[in-house]
Amino acid sequence: MIETQLIETVRTKQSRLAQTDFDNLAFGRTFSDHMALMDYRDGKWQKPKILPYQNLSMSPCASVIHYGQSIFEGMKAYKNEEGRFGLFRPDRNIERMNKSAVRMCMPEIPTDVFMELLSELIRIDHEWIPAGELSSLYIRPFMFATDEYIGVKASEDYRFMIITSPVNAYYSKPVRVKVERHYTRAARGGTGFAKAAGNYAGSMHPAKLANRDGYDQLLWTDAKEHKYIEESGTMNVMFVIDGVLVTPELSDTILDGVTRRSVLRMAKDWGMKVEERRIAVDEIKAAHAAGKLEEAFGCGTAATIAHIEAIGDGSETMELPDPKERELSNKIMKYFTDLKKFRTLDPHGWMVELS
Ligand code: COI
Repeated sequence: MIETQLIETVRTKQSRLAQTDFDNLAFGRTFSDHMALMDYRDGKWQKPKILPYQNLSMSPCASVIHYGQSIFEGMKAYKNEEGRFGLFRPDRNIERMNKSAVRMCMPEIPTDVFMELLSELIRIDHEWIPAGELSSLYIRPFMFATDEYIGVKASEDYRFMIITSPVNAYYSKPVRVKVERHYTRAARGGTGFAKAAGNYAGSMHPAKLANRDGYDQLLWTDAKEHKYIEESGTMNVMFVIDGVLVTPELSDTILDGVTRRSVLRMAKDWGMKVEERRIAVDEIKAAHAAGKLEEAFGCGTAATIAHIEAIGDGSETMELPDPKERELSNKIMKYFTDLKKFRTLDPHGWMVELS
């Protein structure tokens, strides 16, 4: 464990806190006063720093700009009315970031250094964590390649950073998703399981086409047959069919979501039957036609639990039951909110309190 005093810290002279309108936060547009960074040079991580939030200056040849060696994570800090604050399962995000790093040929970050830097940053900017019921401080750790070289090879130098942003819910209302039968998010052997920036870049054109058709997001299908459901644009996806919670099984094309794991764990704890397996779009259609598709929702750090109100496939649209009537997704949403606000027992030890 590195000592806190080993983090070089420069505090801002002018906080932007007082000018921030916490009642009108657009997702990802407002950033807190400080940011963390650590460079990888000469084959090792250098001294970590916390600095006032500021622009970066970099070479136009930085290899990230040309070949996209860039990964990120999404996590959140929560605060309750009494001012207690903490993180939800940060160990899982750190582990996943390192899995992404390995796949993208980037250096792993020692877990203790990552956790120490993250905790210190959140403590310094804890006044930026909103205490509203569905609000949080979104945390964006990321790493990118900094070699000044335009030959195609893995960079030798990298920068790891963490920035934070006070947010409300990512989706302000239930979402309409379109089954994507042509474009592909991830293929076997590719980078789909990694939180690699390029995965998101490749999804933007098909997402824009879906937006034009009146959808909020895509429901990705497998690359080979476009028959089986994978995940949605910014979240994993789950269905309740005839009382059973069903979600696509993990593979190298699906992101191993922290919220996904947590939902599955809680549903099992509550005695619900849970299945992680392939789900054909046709199965969803048949369940809907038989009146057995009780719930559909996305889950992710930014999205939390996002009710899916309609699923479109070609010219067909399935309108789903009223989100207010949905038992599991509403129960889980309430449980997570209570847990993150320290209002309920935490049998799995998921919250890491920092206050
Ligand atoms: C997250 O849920 O944290 C994500 O990274 C999804 C999205 C905002 C890119």
